[in-house]
Amino acid sequence: MRREWCVAWSCLVVLLPVVARAQDVQAGKDVYGPCAACHGANGEGGKGGEYPRVAGQPVSFTLASLKQFQERRRNNLPMFPYTEPRELSERDMKDVAAYLVAIQLPTKTPEFKESDSALDRLLMMERVLVVPRVEGDVRKGKATYRKQCAKCHGPSARGRELKGVPALVGQYPNYLQRQLDAYRKGERGAEKGDPMKGVLDPLSEQDLTDVLAWLTSIQEDEPEAEPAAETP
Ligand code: HEC
Ligand code: HEC
Repeated sequence: MRREWCVAWSCLVVLLPVVARAQDVQAGKDVYGPCAACHGANGEGGKGGEYPRVAGQPVSFTLASLKQFQERRRNNLPMFPYTEPRELSERDMKDVAAYLVAIQLPTKTPEFKESDSALDRLLMMERVLVVPRVEGDVRKGKATYRKQCAKCHGPSARGRELKGVPALVGQYPNYLQRQLDAYRKGERGAEKGDPMKGVLDPLSEQDLTDVLAWLTSIQEDEPEAEPAAETP
């Protein structure tokens, strides 16, 4: 009897967080409503990279970004009104981040079933996100990435939950370029202790173009296994 109770009890402990998470995701979907106008119905971004992809990014990164916009530490006029504390509470930020990380955008055309309606097919196609390729030396770019970026952004550039590091693969390259320029000019990440501070100093424009060429060449590859310790 006692043993059975223990089994049921441990079951409850395991299940509770899962149930709580499911609720966050639903609440996050509601919070995301007004964001979709710019970032797309599935968080895929918009206007060819003017609005970044936000789907699939680590919770820690989305949260940190929203806080940076709210506290005006990261300058961006379109984002300010949506991150005002009365528009977006701490709870909302957590919920929307949980909603976004769970969205996976395929990079290949889906295989349709007979039973899929035309509308189903259209909705499935809308989710497919393939960002444009950047011209450059892919081999050099890979080497530079491995040496200068991989320890934080991960071996396959899919970001890391642990330290709030965003995925770079599957993000619009013109958006990444704009952010690289912002880091270079000290408009972003220039405060003491900011992880990207000084990281780009030893690299030329061509080095970074090559890194983008590599990043946009691997988007359809299966992700390499990340170290087990990465799960939050
Ligand atoms: C009016 C358009 C607009 C709306 C609405 C909007 N955003 Fe944004 N968002 C932007 C732009 C533009 C950027 C890029 C800022 C930059 O260039 O630094 C951005 C950046 C971001 C980023 C950082 C992404 C990255 O990889 O750097 C996150 C996260 C984000 N938005 C989440 C949200 C959420 C959540 C909402 C809704 C609560 C929202 N946005 C509503 C325009 C918008
Ligand atoms: C010491 C760890 C570290 C290293 C090394 C590093 N990054 Fe980052 N990077 C981060 C973190 C953390 C963020 C998010 C923090 C922020 O908002 O600035 C980030 C953000 C970025 C962004 C903005 C992405 C977005 O969606 O807003 C780009 C682009 C970027 N890094 C490119 C690179 C490249 C290219 C390299 C190698 C040359 C590199 N990083 C090396 C930690 C690192």
